[in-house]
Amino acid sequence: MTNPLRDPQDRRLPRIPEPCALVIFGVTGDLARKKLIPAVYDLANRGLLPPGFVILGFARRDWTDGDFEQLARAAAREHSRTPWREEVWARLAGNIKFVGGSFEDDAAFDRLAACLNDLRTSHGIPGNAAFYFSIPPSTFPTVLKQLDRTGMSDNTRSGGWRRVVVEKPFGSDLNSARELNQLVDTVFTPEDVFRIDHYLGKETVQNILALRFANALFEPVWNSHYVDSVQITMAEDVGIGSRAGFYDSVGAARDVVQNHLLQLLTLTAMEEPTSFDAEAIRTEKLKVLKAITLPKDISRHAIRGQYTQGWVAGQRVPGYLEEPNIPPDSTTETYVAIRLGIQNRRWAGVPFYIRAGKRLPRRVTEIAVLFKKAPHLPFDASAVESLGNNQLVIRVQPDEGVTLKFGSKVPGTAMELRDIAMDFLYGEAFTEASPEAYERLVLDVLLGDKTLFPNSAEVEESWRVIDPLEECWAGTKPHPYRAGEWGPKAADEMLASEGRVWRRP
Ligand code: BG6
Repeated sequence: MTNPLRDPQDRRLPRIPEPCALVIFGVTGDLARKKLIPAVYDLANRGLLPPGFVILGFARRDWTDGDFEQLARAAAREHSRTPWREEVWARLAGNIKFVGGSFEDDAAFDRLAACLNDLRTSHGIPGNAAFYFSIPPSTFPTVLKQLDRTGMSDNTRSGGWRRVVVEKPFGSDLNSARELNQLVDTVFTPEDVFRIDHYLGKETVQNILALRFANALFEPVWNSHYVDSVQITMAEDVGIGSRAGFYDSVGAARDVVQNHLLQLLTLTAMEEPTSFDAEAIRTEKLKVLKAITLPKDISRHAIRGQYTQGWVAGQRVPGYLEEPNIPPDSTTETYVAIRLGIQNRRWAGVPFYIRAGKRLPRRVTEIAVLFKKAPHLPFDASAVESLGNNQLVIRVQPDEGVTLKFGSKVPGTAMELRDIAMDFLYGEAFTEASPEAYERLVLDVLLGDKTLFPNSAEVEESWRVIDPLEECWAGTKPHPYRAGEWGPKAADEMLASEGRVWRRP
């Protein structure tokens, strides 16, 4: 009889990757310092990395392995999720290497290839390596060509697996995304390409499918017969920080709607997959993306905004146009609110309102499913005055959890009804803390598990939604909104014209 504790199919057991190297391009950047290196430390701390594991940094610096180790140590100490343990770092520290050079420098890439090769004997790593592109998209082609030229992208020549991890944005429109996809797929085999959308690594996002498909309660009402509308919100209190150059050329729709918000919409709306393997889930997600419809009048149902100076969390903050390195006449949006539809039997007629913005009153990402009102209320009108729609709210972050809102009688002699909330909070229900999204995703790359990674077809379908909006917005100015407010008036008017209001999360 098989011992269930040793069943290799049992996904509850920790999975440990084969000995491998993680090569990071762009190690001096924010993403590497704040997310990737700390994620590697957290994985090591949880005992999830193999004994043969090396981080190999590549950047245009004249550094020794020791210099890079110092940077990595400081980054991990400052940003890791799990407690700092010297002995964990001491084990990693001996496995940190650095190769200096520019992306055009053939000799530097030859040194990188030689370094990977040496790991066979020095660290017992049989050719396995993941290349993480934490670099501007404009440099992808150069690096890909170098990996191709040196044979580093070739599974057969390396004798192990070779994978590439590409950070968003995947292109800036459908055409550029296609070109990028083609280029990556000619250098690496498509199964070895991992496109990161870090929202899919969040525990609360993975729970959407568990909530929907592991329970009998929600699915029967998850359709246009019972659902009035869906609101997906990604609000941030922060501004653009030090990312002016990147953000001004991108804007909110390309930065977070094309990827994070459309992925949230897809998971909320998709049909049950035939299994939980990567292909089955992607098939269902792709069907939703293909069924998305844009509003007829984009100018009224796809609103752009840009923050002006105001107050956020008690602090006076500059407007977008006053941020360092932003051109004073920039028309880049820092807020979007869009009404989408999904043309299928389950969702026809149900609006999906999505909004995302910087410098809003607080940081919150949530999916709110608003149900239709009861068809008949056998109460006096005054008793139900303050009764709203029943709502199921998936709180992606912070205060991770799920809230169910429904009407209840106010205690007392009179019959008066009011909305109340029933809450599930991760922090209270579980003792285990949730891993960081990058912790999960880096581990999955090393394991070769693609379930949480969008494929090229999903990326291209998402651009099909965004491109017409960008075309319509070109040459127009975004609506101003004061920092610290919930976006421009036009976004409120969009909902009001349909008899609805935005939830105040
Ligand atoms: C990134 C965007 O993908 O997500 C940023 O480029 C945004 O602009 C960030 O701030 C938000 O991520 P999170 O995990 O903090 O919600």
